Amino acid sequence: GKGGDMFSFVQDIEGTDFKGSLVILAERAGITLEFENAEATSERQRLYDVMQKSMEFYEKLLSENQDALTYIRGRGLSDETLSEWHIGYAPNDWRIARSHLISQKITDKEMSAVGLIKKADGGKEPYDTFRDRIMFPIFDTSGRCVAFSGRLVQPNDQAPKYLNSPDTELFKKSDILYGLHKAKTAIRRKDYSILVEGQMDLVLSHQAGVNNTVASSGTAITELHLKRLRQLSNRIVISFDSDEAGFKAANRTAQIALSMGMEVKVVLMPEGKDPADVINESSDSWKEVLKHTRHIIDFYIDRLLARGIDRRSLAKEISKYVLPYIAGLSSDIEKSHFVERIATETGFREDAVWEDLKKVERLGGSTTDSGREVSVLEFSSETPEQRIAAIYYWQKNMKDPYVDSADMENKIIEIGGDKLLKRIRDYDSEALNKTLFEIEEKYGTKDVLVTELDKELYKRLEIQILKEKNDNLEPSRLKGDEEAMSEIFSNKKRIEEIQALIRT
Ligand code: UTP
Ligand code: MN
Repeated sequence: GKGGDMFSFVQDIEGTDFKGSLVILAERAGITLEFENAEATSERQRLYDVMQKSMEFYEKLLSENQDALTYIRGRGLSDETLSEWHIGYAPNDWRIARSHLISQKITDKEMSAVGLIKKADGGKEPYDTFRDRIMFPIFDTSGRCVAFSGRLVQPNDQAPKYLNSPDTELFKKSDILYGLHKAKTAIRRKDYSILVEGQMDLVLSHQAGVNNTVASSGTAITELHLKRLRQLSNRIVISFDSDEAGFKAANRTAQIALSMGMEVKVVLMPEGKDPADVINESSDSWKEVLKHTRHIIDFYIDRLLARGIDRRSLAKEISKYVLPYIAGLSSDIEKSHFVERIATETGFREDAVWEDLKKVERLGGSTTDSGREVSVLEFSSETPEQRIAAIYYWQKNMKDPYVDSADMENKIIEIGGDKLLKRIRDYDSEALNKTLFEIEEKYGTKDVLVTELDKELYKRLEIQILKEKNDNLEPSRLKGDEEAMSEIFSNKKRIEEIQALIRT
């Protein structure tokens, strides 16, 4: 429905500029584009030219260097892949690229503008940025080389393993995704993209036939990167290393993508492996790994459940880390899918989960961090404290209460001091209100309530407080603090005594 010609169409669809669209359409039509001579072309075009020439130079140097070739083939890259991605080599030489480019009538100023050389101290000649590195050219969406990422053949402590070109007029890290120029058609056709972390992972993934892969190449994924992908497909699969750093990176990316309304799935890498490792086992094992994607929200639920934490914390974590994502989903069917799953797997009541979700939605997709925003889930997980809080609230607001609230307060202080009383008083009345029906039904007469409080509820509260005390003492115990050790021991004994009392 949008007006324009094929050039503006290609610019829109490919996210490129006019010249980029020319390159693409010329290739489609089998026309050789001839650019005007150097003097006449724009300065920007000169810079593309510098990148192209250095890329070709590094490529030639790789074919001449046996060690580098042995290394890169040893990583599993085929010769076809090397030439398809124009992978090259910068030898361990201070000025080989610069000398070559000077012979091609390229000035230091131009080389410096694209980050290929660096100024030397003490009036010496500028020197090459990349030395003894496998060179991965980074392309823009129309396939022009705009930067390099160079990997040390022999990583050491002195220099980073991967060195990237700085931001230049041609290259904006926050905008360019490695491999997008080759992946874009496949992303649109398959209607999803796969995001991996590194250059090696990316070229190997394409080599294995998974051609809708793109890479972040070391920089954090930005909204701009994701917008590029969203133009092609709304669905993204994030692959990340199974370590904590990998999880954090993926988590950040997932959050941005979800907030942009994208559908986010994650692929779980086998412990300690990256895609390159998996692909080098066999290209089929990579495809196999990619079959087992998990919706990011299911993945978060899995992770929380796997931690085996108590119900109180579980409820908190679900409210804080999972519900905001569900709240962000546009489809109600999807929402109810996840709400149902949470209810089934945690045992929280489904309507309580909905209630909490509504609350998160009212708060604009976030729950408060302070813990003051008490969730319904938290109550329905029914720690003794919460049950007591509900009863306290109920009795306090009853015209002729079954128990005197001052008595309750004394008992609570006896168990956990003023701090516990404050905690109980601070419960969100709205949340507690929701369960009044349940409580009234269960403790509906004075006798039952008084007996239940004495026989069980206060005792359970005391156990809860003793357990909390022990949790707090645990760090000291680990440090060998003897006082902490004996206190933990006597608390445990007391817990056993109380448990025995409840049973009889
Ligand atoms: P990794 O350290 O996981 O490396 O960094 P890798 O991809 O497994 O690389 P190989 O297999 O050892 O060759 C992941 C990505 O982070 C960026 C690179 O893009 C790399 O591919 N990176 C890493 C840097 O930019 N600088 C570095 O010093 C290291
Ligand atoms: Mn690797």
